Amino acid sequence: MQVLVVGGGGREHALCWAIAVSPLLGKLYCAPGNPGISSIAECVAIGAEDIAGIVAFAVEKRIDLVVAGPEAPLTLGLADACAAAGIKCFGPSQAAARLEGSKVFTREVAEAAGVPGAKWQRFDDPAKARAYVRAEGAPIVVKADGLAAGKGVVVASTVEEAEAAIADIMESRIHGEAGATVLIEECLVGEEISFFALCDGETALPLGAAQDHKRVGDGDTGPNTGGMGAYSPPPALTPALQAQVMAEIVQPTLEEMSRRGTPFKGVLFAGLMLTEAGPKLIEFNVRFGDPECQALLLRLRSDLLPALFASCDGGLDMFDLNWDATHSLVVVMAAEGYPGSPRKGTEIKGLEAAAEVPGVQVFHAGTARRDDGALVANGGRVLAVAGTGKTLQEARDAAYAAVDAIDWPGGFCRRDIGWRAL
Ligand SMILES: Nc1ncnc2c1ncn2[C@@H]1O[C@H](COP(=O)(O)OP(=O)(O)O)[C@@H](O)[C@H]1O
Ligand SMILES: [Mg+2]
Repeated sequence: MQVLVVGGGGREHALCWAIAVSPLLGKLYCAPGNPGISSIAECVAIGAEDIAGIVAFAVEKRIDLVVAGPEAPLTLGLADACAAAGIKCFGPSQAAARLEGSKVFTREVAEAAGVPGAKWQRFDDPAKARAYVRAEGAPIVVKADGLAAGKGVVVASTVEEAEAAIADIMESRIHGEAGATVLIEECLVGEEISFFALCDGETALPLGAAQDHKRVGDGDTGPNTGGMGAYSPPPALTPALQAQVMAEIVQPTLEEMSRRGTPFKGVLFAGLMLTEAGPKLIEFNVRFGDPECQALLLRLRSDLLPALFASCDGGLDMFDLNWDATHSLVVVMAAEGYPGSPRKGTEIKGLEAAAEVPGVQVFHAGTARRDDGALVANGGRVLAVAGTGKTLQEARDAAYAAVDAIDWPGGFCRRDIGWRAL
């Protein structure tokens, strides 16, 4: 089998790492990949959003499966373009990817499917949105409908804050057209988890869950990021709760998407709030999370590749994936300045020593090779250092031992990943 992974971050490094060990694999390519990925796959200089370029390459190399890492190519129609060229693609069609592209669409689907979630209303008119916020009171949540790079949601603790968010999103259009429509939601309280399931349009196979850390600073302080760390499994996810999430949230959503003629295939990522009244849906994403993907895949014992094929072809009901009874914990190392303007070009050393720590994998996210061969920072989130262990504490100790072996004065990380669970 020839496989092409699309993307070039830590998530895609972990996907390549899991696919590379499959006995079914012939050759692995990654577009565009990164220096870490290049040690296990042939990296090709095609951007993850260059749909025509990816499809042309896949046709030329007779790729058996294209695996989409990030959401952008999927919302641009990568799966549809592959299908038109007779190539299999792991990931949803453009129509099904609306589950990530529009929060209003997601809530409509969820409502039709009877999926539990926050009370919500959509607004196209800022005056009506303000009146609703005043009537409901705080705390309350204001969300831009469209994609806003993870910055379109304001959890407002006062009515004034909510009104300011309405002005910013709808009137100043700080997220552009993504803010033409907003949702105003009831504020849910509870433990938040990221839940993942492989889907073939009809059947869903649970992959388990992870918890991440979005804030840049220790103690969950400072601005939001793409994610500074994650761990799996979350202590709150009992087998009974997983069964409830599958029955009340994932399966009804798949059925509703099929009813609409847009079956969902790929990985469904459900952001959930574990409230006193049971698990409630916050949002869907249509791809793996980063760094949750690294945390999950480290614990997977089974061959991932056949399951990815089954997600395209159907037959996931025949699968039963095996997971290590271990814990995993990922620490993201970012370049100074992140999430603002990260400093590029600082040299990173010591990855060999880090990789020798038992139970550790170091995934590359934003790295590059300098002309002289040195490894340098080339992005905000630069490395994802992942540890495993029999307990979460052991996984954490392994990850931080590896972090400490890395010699990179231009980088930083949080020192408290997993604190809520420990
Ligand atoms: N109804 C809600 N109640 C409480 N917190 C929420 C609610 N909706 C979103 N949040 C918080 O805001 C974060 C971002 O919202 P989400 O819908 O996941 O949007 P995105 O990931 O696209 O920014 C969530 O991870 C959660 O912490
Ligand atoms: Mg989210």
